[in-house]
Amino acid sequence: MDRTVLITGADRGLGLGLAGLLLSQGWHVLAGQYLPAWPELTGLLQQYPQRLNLFPLDVASMESVQTAACSLANQVERLDVLINNAGVNSPTNERSIREGLDYADMHRLYDINALGPLRVVEAFLPILDRGGMKRLCFVSSEAGSIGRMTRTAWQPYCMSKAALNMGIQILFNRLHPEGYTFRVYHPGWVRSYMGGQKNNQADLEPEQAAAYAIPFFLNDLENEDHLSLIDYQGQTWPW
Ligand SMILES: NC(=O)c1ccc[n+]([C@@H]2O[C@H](COP(=O)([O-])OP(=O)(O)OC[C@H]3O[C@@H](n4cnc5c(N)ncnc54)[C@H](OP(=O)(O)O)[C@@H]3O)[C@@H](O)[C@H]2O)c1
Repeated sequence: MDRTVLITGADRGLGLGLAGLLLSQGWHVLAGQYLPAWPELTGLLQQYPQRLNLFPLDVASMESVQTAACSLANQVERLDVLINNAGVNSPTNERSIREGLDYADMHRLYDINALGPLRVVEAFLPILDRGGMKRLCFVSSEAGSIGRMTRTAWQPYCMSKAALNMGIQILFNRLHPEGYTFRVYHPGWVRSYMGGQKNNQADLEPEQAAAYAIPFFLNDLENEDHLSLIDYQGQTWPW
């Protein structure tokens, strides 16, 4: 039977790159769709009708996440790998404490970037328990590293990713003894849609970024007993 992976925020950017590459490698892909009008996932469905399931998923809504988990529990036997990729940036990141911070947007980013992956893990654990790999992957960011933070603004995004990292460590403490393995990842600067439009100034096309990420997500590590934030070049970042 094909191995099965679930990807959140798979409509475009890195998530779409991961979906396309994993399908080409023979995986069964469950792709969370946040933007039903965006055409590329539908194109992949025409190419891989047997191995791609599209389903609506808003990681900010427990109802949406639970509805997806209930529906997929009846459609797939098991889930081997979960990739928590969905994330957002803030249009008011550039405001420093001198300009006044946007607290409403900080709440929004915390809800999506930090709490979203926890909702998804919680709802999909029963299906993951049935899988062989028990691998939980999280797309975090260098922006969540307190140890190397030099920015003078960007609280909304950076604080949400630092909170995500803490949430992952606590999940690791609880689930690693049950056989779960974890990946926490900074994908590099990707030409994705975080600013609303494709950012062609960035370093990596989403397909390139996906090609860096997949071996890290799927291959076993020498030491699975320790959690680290690793970037696309294999460098470790401090928490
Ligand atoms: N791009 C970079 O340089 C970079 C660097 C470090 C880390 N990352 C991380 O990489 C991950 C992927 O981002 P990306 O760069 O590929 O950006 P992207 O192109 O914006 O892709 C993220 C996807 O998640 C979707 N999404 C937004 N809110 C969601 C929600 N509530 N539920 C489910 N999906 C939702 C987005 O939809 P919308 O387009 O409608 O928002 C989009 O389709 C994110 O976690 C991001 O923080 C990116």
